[in-house]
Amino acid sequence: MNLFNIILLPLFEDFKSESLPVQIPDTYLENFTGKAKETVTYFSPENQKIIVLGLGKKDDFKTVKSTFRSFFYHNKSKIKGDISILFSEKISPEIASAAAQGIALAAYEIGHLKSDKSKPESWFLGDYNLSLNENIDAEAYDKGKKIAATQAQIMKWVDTPANFKTPAVLAEWILESGQKYGFETEIFDTEKCEALGMKALLAVGRGSVENPPQMVILKYNHPEATKTVGLVGKGVTFDTGGVSLKPGDNMNYMKSDMGGAAAVAGTFEASARLKLKVNLIGAIPLTENCIDSLAVKPGDVIGSYLGKTIEVINTDAEGRLILADALAYLVKNHSTDYLIDLATLTGNCIQALGYAAAAMLTHNDALADALSSSGIKTGEKVWRMPLWDDYKDMIKSDIADIKNLSTAPIAGAITAAKFLEEFVDNHPAWAHLDIAGVAFGDSEFGSMKSATGYGVNLLIDWLENNS
Ligand code: BES
Ligand code: ZN
Ligand code: ZN
Repeated sequence: MNLFNIILLPLFEDFKSESLPVQIPDTYLENFTGKAKETVTYFSPENQKIIVLGLGKKDDFKTVKSTFRSFFYHNKSKIKGDISILFSEKISPEIASAAAQGIALAAYEIGHLKSDKSKPESWFLGDYNLSLNENIDAEAYDKGKKIAATQAQIMKWVDTPANFKTPAVLAEWILESGQKYGFETEIFDTEKCEALGMKALLAVGRGSVENPPQMVILKYNHPEATKTVGLVGKGVTFDTGGVSLKPGDNMNYMKSDMGGAAAVAGTFEASARLKLKVNLIGAIPLTENCIDSLAVKPGDVIGSYLGKTIEVINTDAEGRLILADALAYLVKNHSTDYLIDLATLTGNCIQALGYAAAAMLTHNDALADALSSSGIKTGEKVWRMPLWDDYKDMIKSDIADIKNLSTAPIAGAITAAKFLEEFVDNHPAWAHLDIAGVAFGDSEFGSMKSATGYGVNLLIDWLENNS
Protein backbone atom coordinates (compact mmCIF):
# COMPACT_ATOMS: atom_id res chain seq x y z
CA MET A 1 0.00 0.00 0.00
CA ASN A 2 0.85 3.62 -0.49
CA LEU A 3 1.82 5.12 2.86
CA PHE A 4 1.06 8.80 3.18
CA ASN A 5 2.64 11.22 5.62
CA ILE A 6 -0.49 11.50 7.67
CA ILE A 7 -1.33 8.20 9.28
CA LEU A 8 -4.44 7.46 11.29
CA LEU A 9 -4.12 4.59 13.71
CA PRO A 10 -7.54 3.63 15.07
CA LEU A 11 -7.43 1.47 18.20
CA PHE A 12 -10.13 -0.25 20.23
CA GLU A 13 -9.95 -0.17 24.03
CA ASP A 14 -8.44 -3.67 24.12
CA PHE A 15 -5.53 -2.78 21.82
CA LYS A 16 -2.10 -4.34 22.34
CA SER A 17 0.72 -1.84 22.19
CA GLU A 18 3.22 -4.50 21.11
CA SER A 19 1.42 -5.26 17.83
CA LEU A 20 0.93 -1.85 16.26
CA PRO A 21 1.49 -1.45 12.50
CA VAL A 22 3.76 1.56 13.08
CA GLN A 23 6.35 2.29 15.73
CA ILE A 24 5.21 4.66 18.46
CA PRO A 25 7.30 5.24 21.58
CA ASP A 26 5.67 3.81 24.70
CA THR A 27 5.61 7.16 26.43
CA TYR A 28 3.06 8.41 23.91
CA LEU A 29 0.64 5.60 24.61
CA GLU A 30 1.11 5.47 28.36
CA ASN A 31 -2.12 7.29 29.11
CA PHE A 32 -4.00 6.29 25.99
CA THR A 33 -7.00 4.09 26.84
CA GLY A 34 -8.70 3.75 23.43
CA LYS A 35 -11.86 5.44 24.61
CA ALA A 36 -13.95 6.69 21.67
CA LYS A 37 -12.63 9.93 20.13
CA GLU A 38 -9.50 10.03 22.32
CA THR A 39 -6.47 11.06 20.26
CA VAL A 40 -2.69 11.14 20.62
CA THR A 41 -0.45 12.65 17.95
CA TYR A 42 3.15 11.61 17.35
CA PHE A 43 5.59 12.96 14.76
CA SER A 44 7.93 10.21 13.68
CA PRO A 45 11.60 10.74 12.77
CA GLU A 46 10.53 9.89 9.17
CA ASN A 47 8.38 13.01 9.22
CA GLN A 48 5.13 11.17 9.51
CA LYS A 49 2.27 12.58 11.53
CA ILE A 50 0.70 9.63 13.30
CA ILE A 51 -2.67 10.21 14.91
CA VAL A 52 -3.87 7.50 17.24
CA LEU A 53 -7.66 7.49 17.47
CA GLY A 54 -9.65 5.67 20.14
CA LEU A 55 -12.60 3.64 18.84
CA GLY A 56 -14.07 2.61 22.17
CA LYS A 57 -15.36 -0.86 22.99
CA LYS A 58 -14.60 -3.58 20.48
CA ASP A 59 -16.78 -3.69 17.36
CA ASP A 60 -19.48 -1.21 18.27
CA PHE A 61 -20.85 -0.17 14.86
CA LYS A 62 -22.43 3.09 16.00
CA THR A 63 -19.40 4.24 17.98
CA VAL A 64 -16.99 3.44 15.16
CA LYS A 65 -19.19 5.32 12.70
CA SER A 66 -19.62 8.37 14.93
CA THR A 67 -15.95 8.44 15.93
CA PHE A 68 -14.76 8.51 12.33
CA ARG A 69 -17.42 11.05 11.40
CA SER A 70 -16.47 13.27 14.29
CA PHE A 71 -12.73 13.01 13.67
CA PHE A 72 -12.92 13.83 9.97
CA TYR A 73 -15.62 16.46 10.46
CA HIS A 74 -13.57 18.38 13.00
CA ASN A 75 -10.30 18.00 11.10
CA LYS A 76 -11.75 18.84 7.70
CA SER A 77 -9.65 21.93 7.21
CA LYS A 78 -6.47 20.28 8.48
CA ILE A 79 -6.58 17.12 6.42
CA LYS A 80 -6.70 17.83 2.71
CA GLY A 81 -6.67 14.27 1.48
CA ASP A 82 -3.62 11.99 1.45
CA ILE A 83 -4.11 10.00 4.60
CA SER A 84 -3.39 6.38 5.42
CA ILE A 85 -5.58 4.46 7.82
CA LEU A 86 -3.86 1.52 9.45
CA PHE A 87 -5.93 -0.89 11.49
CA SER A 88 -3.78 -2.91 13.85
CA GLU A 89 -5.90 -6.02 13.56
CA LYS A 90 -8.35 -7.54 11.08
CA ILE A 91 -11.73 -5.83 11.37
CA SER A 92 -15.11 -7.29 10.43
CA PRO A 93 -16.93 -6.25 7.25
CA GLU A 94 -19.53 -4.49 9.43
CA ILE A 95 -16.91 -2.37 11.16
CA ALA A 96 -15.26 -1.61 7.81
CA SER A 97 -18.63 -0.37 6.58
CA ALA A 98 -19.11 1.69 9.75
CA ALA A 99 -15.71 3.35 9.28
CA ALA A 100 -16.48 4.12 5.63
CA GLN A 101 -19.84 5.61 6.58
CA GLY A 102 -18.36 7.80 9.26
CA ILE A 103 -15.66 9.14 6.95
CA ALA A 104 -18.10 9.80 4.12
CA LEU A 105 -20.69 11.43 6.36
CA ALA A 106 -18.08 13.83 7.75
CA ALA A 107 -18.64 15.70 4.49
CA TYR A 108 -22.31 16.20 5.26
CA GLU A 109 -23.13 19.84 6.05
CA ILE A 110 -26.50 21.15 7.13
CA GLY A 111 -25.70 24.67 5.89
CA HIS A 112 -26.54 24.06 2.25
CA LEU A 113 -28.89 27.03 2.13
CA LYS A 114 -26.30 29.55 3.31
CA SER A 115 -25.54 32.13 0.64
CA ASP A 116 -21.77 31.91 1.14
CA LYS A 117 -20.78 29.17 -1.28
CA SER A 118 -17.04 29.69 -0.88
CA LYS A 119 -16.64 26.62 1.30
CA PRO A 120 -14.61 24.14 -0.70
CA GLU A 121 -16.40 20.95 -1.60
CA SER A 122 -15.27 18.31 0.86
CA TRP A 123 -13.03 15.60 -0.51
CA PHE A 124 -14.37 12.81 1.68
CA LEU A 125 -17.19 11.74 -0.61
CA GLY A 126 -15.16 11.71 -3.80
CA ASP A 127 -12.23 9.63 -4.93
CA TYR A 128 -10.00 10.88 -2.20
CA ASN A 129 -6.44 9.87 -1.56
CA LEU A 130 -7.02 7.51 1.24
CA SER A 131 -5.03 4.35 1.62
CA LEU A 132 -6.17 1.50 3.79
CA ASN A 133 -4.11 -1.41 5.02
CA GLU A 134 -4.98 -5.08 4.51
CA ASN A 135 -6.79 -5.33 7.85
CA ILE A 136 -9.81 -3.60 6.39
CA ASP A 137 -11.84 -5.31 3.69
CA ALA A 138 -11.97 -3.08 0.59
CA GLU A 139 -15.30 -4.47 -0.61
CA ALA A 140 -16.96 -3.85 2.73
CA TYR A 141 -15.47 -0.38 2.83
CA ASP A 142 -16.91 0.34 -0.61
CA LYS A 143 -20.32 -0.91 0.47
CA GLY A 144 -20.20 1.46 3.45
CA LYS A 145 -19.38 4.33 1.11
CA LYS A 146 -22.43 3.57 -1.01
CA ILE A 147 -24.73 3.34 1.99
CA ALA A 148 -23.32 6.61 3.31
CA ALA A 149 -23.95 8.41 0.04
CA THR A 150 -27.59 7.36 0.29
CA GLN A 151 -27.73 8.37 3.94
CA ALA A 152 -26.30 11.80 3.12
CA GLN A 153 -28.97 12.20 0.47
CA ILE A 154 -31.88 11.37 2.75
CA MET A 155 -30.40 13.42 5.60
CA LYS A 156 -30.40 16.38 3.25
CA TRP A 157 -34.05 15.72 2.46
CA VAL A 158 -34.98 15.57 6.14
CA ASP A 159 -32.97 18.71 6.96
CA THR A 160 -34.43 20.66 4.06
CA PRO A 161 -37.04 23.21 5.20
CA ALA A 162 -40.65 22.60 4.21
CA ASN A 163 -40.77 25.50 1.75
CA PHE A 164 -38.09 23.71 -0.28
CA LYS A 165 -39.69 20.26 -0.09
CA THR A 166 -43.37 20.27 -0.85
CA PRO A 167 -44.96 16.86 -1.47
CA ALA A 168 -44.49 17.36 -5.23
CA VAL A 169 -40.80 18.22 -4.81
CA LEU A 170 -40.13 15.25 -2.55
CA ALA A 171 -41.97 12.94 -4.96
CA GLU A 172 -39.74 14.23 -7.76
CA TRP A 173 -36.58 13.61 -5.69
CA ILE A 174 -37.64 10.01 -5.07
CA LEU A 175 -38.38 9.58 -8.78
CA GLU A 176 -34.92 10.92 -9.68
CA SER A 177 -33.26 8.58 -7.20
CA GLY A 178 -35.09 5.68 -8.83
CA GLN A 179 -33.98 6.73 -12.29
CA LYS A 180 -30.40 7.12 -11.18
CA TYR A 181 -30.01 3.91 -9.20
CA GLY A 182 -32.49 1.54 -10.74
CA PHE A 183 -35.89 1.26 -9.09
CA GLU A 184 -39.28 2.15 -10.52
CA THR A 185 -41.53 4.85 -9.19
CA GLU A 186 -45.06 5.89 -9.91
CA ILE A 187 -46.52 9.10 -8.56
CA PHE A 188 -50.25 9.25 -7.83
CA ASP A 189 -51.31 12.90 -7.95
CA THR A 190 -54.45 14.20 -6.25
CA GLU A 191 -56.68 13.20 -9.13
CA LYS A 192 -55.38 9.65 -9.12
CA CYS A 193 -55.68 9.46 -5.32
CA GLU A 194 -59.29 10.60 -5.68
CA ALA A 195 -59.98 7.97 -8.33
CA LEU A 196 -58.47 5.30 -6.07
CA GLY A 197 -60.39 6.49 -3.02
CA MET A 198 -57.44 7.44 -0.81
CA LYS A 199 -59.78 9.47 1.33
CA ALA A 200 -57.71 9.62 4.50
CA LEU A 201 -54.61 10.94 2.71
CA LEU A 202 -56.74 13.43 0.79
CA ALA A 203 -58.44 14.58 4.00
CA VAL A 204 -55.10 15.48 5.61
CA GLY A 205 -53.99 17.13 2.36
CA ARG A 206 -57.04 19.38 2.25
CA GLY A 207 -55.28 21.66 4.68
CA SER A 208 -52.84 22.57 1.88
CA VAL A 209 -54.61 23.51 -1.30
CA GLU A 210 -51.48 24.80 -3.05
CA ASN A 211 -49.30 21.85 -2.10
CA PRO A 212 -51.59 18.87 -2.58
CA PRO A 213 -50.78 15.34 -1.41
CA GLN A 214 -49.19 12.64 -3.51
CA MET A 215 -48.69 8.92 -3.11
CA VAL A 216 -45.43 7.52 -4.42
CA ILE A 217 -45.26 3.82 -5.28
CA LEU A 218 -41.77 2.32 -5.45
CA LYS A 219 -40.71 -1.00 -6.97
CA TYR A 220 -37.36 -2.71 -6.86
CA ASN A 221 -36.91 -6.21 -8.22
CA HIS A 222 -34.03 -8.64 -8.40
CA PRO A 223 -34.25 -11.66 -10.72
CA GLU A 224 -32.95 -14.01 -8.02
CA ALA A 225 -35.21 -12.71 -5.26
CA THR A 226 -37.26 -15.19 -3.27
CA LYS A 227 -39.02 -12.75 -0.93
CA THR A 228 -41.10 -9.62 -1.41
CA VAL A 229 -40.99 -6.93 1.26
CA GLY A 230 -43.51 -4.10 1.52
CA LEU A 231 -42.26 -0.81 2.95
CA VAL A 232 -44.33 2.22 3.94
CA GLY A 233 -42.96 5.55 5.20
CA LYS A 234 -44.75 8.55 6.69
CA GLY A 235 -44.11 11.56 4.49
CA VAL A 236 -45.53 14.62 6.22
CA THR A 237 -43.36 17.39 4.80
CA PHE A 238 -44.52 19.72 7.57
CA ASP A 239 -46.74 19.03 10.55
CA THR A 240 -48.38 22.12 12.02
CA GLY A 241 -50.84 19.86 13.80
CA GLY A 242 -53.61 21.21 11.57
CA VAL A 243 -56.60 22.84 13.30
CA SER A 244 -55.44 21.04 16.47
CA LEU A 245 -52.46 23.36 16.14
CA LYS A 246 -49.16 22.49 17.77
CA PRO A 247 -47.51 24.96 20.17
CA GLY A 248 -45.02 27.27 18.45
CA ASP A 249 -41.92 26.19 20.34
CA ASN A 250 -39.81 23.88 18.19
CA MET A 251 -42.54 23.59 15.57
CA ASN A 252 -39.78 24.30 13.03
CA TYR A 253 -38.51 20.78 13.67
CA MET A 254 -41.69 19.37 12.19
CA LYS A 255 -40.03 19.66 8.79
CA SER A 256 -38.57 16.29 9.80
CA ASP A 257 -41.95 14.57 9.91
CA MET A 258 -41.07 12.79 6.66
CA GLY A 259 -38.21 10.83 8.27
CA GLY A 260 -40.06 7.56 7.62
CA ALA A 261 -40.47 8.43 3.95
CA ALA A 262 -36.76 9.26 3.77
CA ALA A 263 -35.80 5.96 5.40
CA VAL A 264 -37.97 3.98 2.98
CA ALA A 265 -36.79 5.86 -0.13
CA GLY A 266 -33.21 5.50 1.14
CA THR A 267 -33.67 1.76 1.59
CA PHE A 268 -34.85 1.47 -2.01
CA GLU A 269 -31.88 3.49 -3.20
CA ALA A 270 -29.35 1.54 -1.15
CA SER A 271 -30.89 -1.81 -2.13
CA ALA A 272 -30.63 -0.83 -5.79
CA ARG A 273 -27.03 0.37 -5.40
CA LEU A 274 -26.05 -2.82 -3.60
CA LYS A 275 -28.18 -4.98 -5.92
CA LEU A 276 -29.78 -6.82 -3.01
CA LYS A 277 -31.49 -10.07 -3.94
CA VAL A 278 -34.94 -9.09 -2.84
CA ASN A 279 -38.14 -7.64 -4.27
CA LEU A 280 -39.34 -4.46 -2.65
CA ILE A 281 -42.67 -2.72 -3.03
CA GLY A 282 -43.12 0.63 -1.32
CA ALA A 283 -45.80 3.22 -0.70
CA ILE A 284 -44.93 6.71 0.52
CA PRO A 285 -47.84 9.03 1.28
CA LEU A 286 -46.70 12.65 1.01
CA THR A 287 -48.59 15.62 2.39
CA GLU A 288 -48.36 18.73 4.52
CA ASN A 289 -50.49 18.93 7.64
CA CYS A 290 -51.57 22.55 7.51
CA ILE A 291 -54.62 24.76 8.00
CA ASP A 292 -56.56 25.94 5.00
CA SER A 293 -60.25 26.80 4.88
CA LEU A 294 -60.98 23.25 3.80
CA ALA A 295 -58.83 21.61 6.47
CA VAL A 296 -60.26 18.73 8.46
CA LYS A 297 -61.72 19.81 11.79
CA PRO A 298 -61.61 17.89 15.04
CA GLY A 299 -64.72 15.74 15.19
CA ASP A 300 -64.99 15.30 11.41
CA VAL A 301 -65.57 11.81 10.10
CA ILE A 302 -63.57 10.88 7.02
CA GLY A 303 -63.36 7.84 4.77
CA SER A 304 -60.33 5.75 3.86
CA TYR A 305 -58.97 3.58 1.04
CA LEU A 306 -60.06 0.46 2.89
CA GLY A 307 -63.58 1.86 3.33
CA LYS A 308 -63.51 2.17 7.11
CA THR A 309 -64.76 5.48 8.46
CA ILE A 310 -62.55 7.42 10.87
CA GLU A 311 -63.51 10.01 13.46
CA VAL A 312 -60.74 12.60 13.55
CA ILE A 313 -60.55 13.51 17.22
CA ASN A 314 -57.32 15.42 16.78
CA THR A 315 -55.94 16.61 13.45
CA ASP A 316 -52.39 16.37 14.82
CA ALA A 317 -52.68 12.58 14.75
CA GLU A 318 -52.40 12.82 10.96
CA GLY A 319 -49.60 10.32 10.37
CA ARG A 320 -51.74 7.28 11.11
CA LEU A 321 -54.38 8.57 8.69
CA ILE A 322 -52.07 8.74 5.71
CA LEU A 323 -50.32 5.49 6.69
CA ALA A 324 -53.70 3.77 6.85
CA ASP A 325 -54.26 4.43 3.15
CA ALA A 326 -50.70 3.49 2.17
CA LEU A 327 -50.78 0.23 4.16
CA ALA A 328 -54.23 -0.72 2.92
CA TYR A 329 -53.21 0.02 -0.65
CA LEU A 330 -50.16 -2.25 -0.44
CA VAL A 331 -52.03 -5.04 1.29
CA LYS A 332 -54.86 -4.96 -1.25
CA ASN A 333 -52.74 -4.72 -4.40
CA HIS A 334 -49.56 -6.64 -3.62
CA SER A 335 -48.81 -9.81 -1.81
CA THR A 336 -45.83 -9.40 0.49
CA ASP A 337 -43.89 -11.73 2.77
CA TYR A 338 -43.15 -8.89 5.17
CA LEU A 339 -44.72 -5.49 5.63
CA ILE A 340 -42.85 -2.79 7.55
CA ASP A 341 -43.80 0.82 8.11
CA LEU A 342 -41.61 3.56 9.51
CA ALA A 343 -43.04 6.78 10.87
CA THR A 344 -42.23 9.71 13.11
CA LEU A 345 -45.59 8.93 14.61
CA THR A 346 -45.92 9.88 18.27
CA GLY A 347 -44.43 12.15 20.90
CA ASN A 348 -45.37 9.39 23.31
CA CYS A 349 -42.75 7.12 21.72
CA ILE A 350 -40.12 9.67 22.78
CA GLN A 351 -41.64 9.80 26.27
CA ALA A 352 -41.22 6.05 26.53
CA LEU A 353 -37.86 5.39 24.87
CA GLY A 354 -36.15 8.74 24.53
CA TYR A 355 -33.71 9.07 21.67
CA ALA A 356 -32.04 5.68 21.96
CA ALA A 357 -34.37 3.41 20.05
CA ALA A 358 -37.38 3.24 17.78
CA ALA A 359 -40.52 1.57 19.11
CA MET A 360 -41.34 -1.66 17.34
CA LEU A 361 -44.83 -3.12 17.36
CA THR A 362 -45.58 -6.43 15.72
CA HIS A 363 -47.38 -9.71 16.37
CA ASN A 364 -44.62 -11.64 14.65
CA ASP A 365 -41.95 -12.84 17.12
CA ALA A 366 -39.48 -14.00 14.49
CA LEU A 367 -39.66 -10.65 12.71
CA ALA A 368 -39.26 -8.85 16.03
CA ASP A 369 -36.16 -10.87 16.87
CA ALA A 370 -34.62 -10.35 13.45
CA LEU A 371 -35.21 -6.59 13.51
CA SER A 372 -33.91 -6.38 17.07
CA SER A 373 -30.69 -8.11 16.18
CA SER A 374 -30.17 -5.93 13.08
CA GLY A 375 -30.76 -2.96 15.34
CA ILE A 376 -28.12 -4.05 17.82
CA LYS A 377 -25.66 -4.81 15.02
CA THR A 378 -26.07 -1.45 13.28
CA GLY A 379 -26.74 0.72 16.31
CA GLU A 380 -30.12 1.66 14.81
CA LYS A 381 -31.94 0.04 17.68
CA VAL A 382 -35.56 -0.96 18.07
CA TRP A 383 -37.38 -1.86 21.28
CA ARG A 384 -40.53 -3.90 21.25
CA MET A 385 -43.78 -2.63 22.73
CA PRO A 386 -46.95 -4.68 23.15
CA LEU A 387 -49.69 -4.74 20.57
CA TRP A 388 -52.24 -6.53 22.74
CA ASP A 389 -55.95 -6.15 22.28
CA ASP A 390 -56.08 -4.69 25.81
CA TYR A 391 -55.49 -1.37 24.03
CA LYS A 392 -58.04 -1.87 21.30
CA ASP A 393 -61.03 -0.27 23.01
CA MET A 394 -59.16 2.98 23.43
CA ILE A 395 -59.69 3.87 19.77
CA LYS A 396 -63.31 2.74 19.52
CA SER A 397 -65.58 5.48 18.18
CA ASP A 398 -69.27 6.02 18.91
CA ILE A 399 -70.00 7.55 15.53
CA ALA A 400 -67.48 5.99 13.10
CA ASP A 401 -65.71 2.67 12.66
CA ILE A 402 -62.66 3.90 14.57
CA LYS A 403 -61.22 7.15 15.97
CA ASN A 404 -57.74 8.48 15.38
CA LEU A 405 -56.91 9.25 18.98
CA SER A 406 -57.54 7.67 22.31
CA THR A 407 -59.39 9.77 24.86
CA ALA A 408 -56.95 8.80 27.57
CA PRO A 409 -53.53 10.47 27.22
CA ILE A 410 -51.66 7.22 27.85
CA ALA A 411 -49.95 4.54 25.76
CA GLY A 412 -50.00 6.81 22.69
CA ALA A 413 -47.38 4.90 20.71
CA ILE A 414 -49.31 1.68 21.25
CA THR A 415 -52.76 3.02 20.42
CA ALA A 416 -51.31 4.58 17.24
CA ALA A 417 -50.08 1.13 16.22
CA LYS A 418 -53.46 -0.40 17.12
CA PHE A 419 -55.00 2.12 14.75
CA LEU A 420 -52.66 1.06 11.93
CA GLU A 421 -53.42 -2.58 12.66
CA GLU A 422 -56.98 -1.95 11.49
CA PHE A 423 -55.65 -1.35 7.98
CA VAL A 424 -53.23 -4.24 7.40
CA ASP A 425 -55.83 -7.01 7.10
CA ASN A 426 -54.12 -9.26 9.65
CA HIS A 427 -50.89 -9.38 7.65
CA PRO A 428 -48.92 -12.14 9.41
CA ALA A 429 -45.57 -10.33 9.22
CA TRP A 430 -46.34 -6.66 9.70
CA ALA A 431 -44.14 -4.48 11.89
CA HIS A 432 -44.61 -0.83 12.73
CA LEU A 433 -41.54 1.21 13.71
CA ASP A 434 -42.18 4.52 15.46
CA ILE A 435 -39.02 6.50 14.73
CA ALA A 436 -40.11 9.83 16.30
CA GLY A 437 -37.14 9.84 18.68
CA VAL A 438 -34.43 8.58 16.38
CA ALA A 439 -34.91 10.18 12.95
CA PHE A 440 -33.85 13.64 14.03
CA GLY A 441 -31.78 14.79 16.97
CA ASP A 442 -29.05 16.74 18.67
CA SER A 443 -25.51 16.18 17.49
CA GLU A 444 -22.05 17.67 17.57
CA PHE A 445 -22.47 18.79 13.96
CA GLY A 446 -24.67 21.79 14.62
CA SER A 447 -26.46 23.68 17.37
CA MET A 448 -29.89 22.70 16.15
CA LYS A 449 -31.33 19.24 15.74
CA SER A 450 -30.59 17.53 12.44
CA ALA A 451 -31.26 14.34 10.51
CA THR A 452 -29.67 11.07 11.59
CA GLY A 453 -30.29 8.93 8.51
CA TYR A 454 -31.89 6.32 10.79
CA GLY A 455 -33.38 3.26 9.15
CA VAL A 456 -31.22 2.53 6.13
CA ASN A 457 -28.58 0.48 7.96
CA LEU A 458 -31.25 -1.28 10.00
CA LEU A 459 -33.33 -2.28 6.99
CA ILE A 460 -30.42 -3.14 4.70
CA ASP A 461 -28.92 -5.41 7.35
CA TRP A 462 -32.29 -7.03 7.98
CA LEU A 463 -32.94 -7.48 4.23
CA GLU A 464 -29.52 -9.03 3.72
CA ASN A 465 -30.14 -11.56 6.45
CA ASN A 466 -33.81 -12.34 5.95
CA SER A 467 -34.57 -12.43 2.27
N1 BES B 1 -45.33 14.18 13.99
C1 BES B 1 -45.93 14.03 15.26
C2 BES B 1 -45.11 13.14 16.21
C3 BES B 1 -43.75 13.66 16.62
C4 BES B 1 -43.60 14.40 17.76
C5 BES B 1 -42.64 13.37 15.86
C6 BES B 1 -42.35 14.85 18.11
C7 BES B 1 -41.39 13.80 16.22
C8 BES B 1 -41.24 14.55 17.35
C9 BES B 1 -47.32 13.43 15.14
O1 BES B 1 -48.00 13.70 13.98
C10 BES B 1 -48.09 14.03 16.25
O2 BES B 1 -48.28 15.21 16.22
N2 BES B 1 -48.47 13.21 17.21
C11 BES B 1 -49.11 13.70 18.34
C12 BES B 1 -50.41 13.03 18.54
C13 BES B 1 -51.24 13.81 19.51
C14 BES B 1 -52.43 14.38 18.83
C15 BES B 1 -51.58 13.04 20.70
C16 BES B 1 -48.21 13.44 19.54
O3 BES B 1 -47.73 12.33 19.66
O4 BES B 1 -47.99 14.36 20.31
ZN1 ZN C 1 -49.13 15.51 14.04
ZN1 ZN D 1 -46.83 14.13 12.30
